[in-house]
Amino acid sequence: MLLQPPIQNIPIQEISVNKKVKLFMKREDLIHPQISGNKYWKLFFNINQYLEKNPENPSIITFGGAFSNHISAVSAVGNLVKIPTLGMIRGEELQNKWCNNPTLVFAHQNGMDFRFVTREEYRDKEKLTQYLQKEFPEALIVPEGGTNEDAVNGVKMMLNDETKDFDYLCTAVGTGGTIAGILKFSEDNQKVIGFKAVDDSSLENKIFELTLKRNFDLIDSSFGGYGKIKDENIRFINDFKERYGIPLEPIYTGKMMQKVFELIEEDYFPENSRVLCFHTGGLQGIEGANLLLQKQNRKLII
Ligand SMILES: Cc1ncc(COP(=O)(O)O)c(C=O)c1O
Repeated sequence: MLLQPPIQNIPIQEISVNKKVKLFMKREDLIHPQISGNKYWKLFFNINQYLEKNPENPSIITFGGAFSNHISAVSAVGNLVKIPTLGMIRGEELQNKWCNNPTLVFAHQNGMDFRFVTREEYRDKEKLTQYLQKEFPEALIVPEGGTNEDAVNGVKMMLNDETKDFDYLCTAVGTGGTIAGILKFSEDNQKVIGFKAVDDSSLENKIFELTLKRNFDLIDSSFGGYGKIKDENIRFINDFKERYGIPLEPIYTGKMMQKVFELIEEDYFPENSRVLCFHTGGLQGIEGANLLLQKQNRKLII
């Protein structure tokens, strides 16, 4: 069974922030209840090309942190196409307490097996991949965040005739696959802006390796570091949901939109620019984030 294209005609929703700039959000978070946003498109060709080869003992292996949207999505894909999945999870300390983590519980319910590896082992992906290739020669090994050439080509599906009508295309950046895909298939007169969830100086080179297009800018929107959630981020996310009815999560899309609002205030975008932000999903992460915030006696994400 192959992965089917999800819901088409994703709505583009206007966000009336001020009169100077026309701001919109493309709701890729609505394409599938469990594999939302960029995840579906990054996995689409990877999974289907693998399944079309009809492997005798198919399985999917991938990597991620404890709250990873990618781990969550891969487990749901495995459940959908009915093949086993294995998650290589960062942090051996989770071995005995993963039941307290909503992302891992969800992945487990989808049938995913886990191997918990130390941060040091996790960092050396090449060694880990070589080992996995030997142990599971028939498995599809999907890199961290799903980013590879097939993923970049899948992201093309996030663009259509309607998205050509914008001057700026904005996306959150983690491993760089999503922005590389948007960039590769953007129009030459469009500017693509990547909002970095992680302040990683190697990202630009990673994007260079995935596409020859150069009409982009990267802006740090990590707000103090990857995965760190400040009170101002929570305030922004909750206010945004109340005003526009759009939920955001605190690691990628929340920080991106907060930075976009700051840029609008600073007149970064010329007057009357049409700005499109991609909602790349990841809303499953809110539950885990709220558990951590609760332990710290802090305000929760609504
Ligand atoms: C919700 C969300 N948005 C954006 C991204 C960034 O995508 P990429 O890793 O392709 O840069 C991710 C990442 O992994 C994500 O989970």
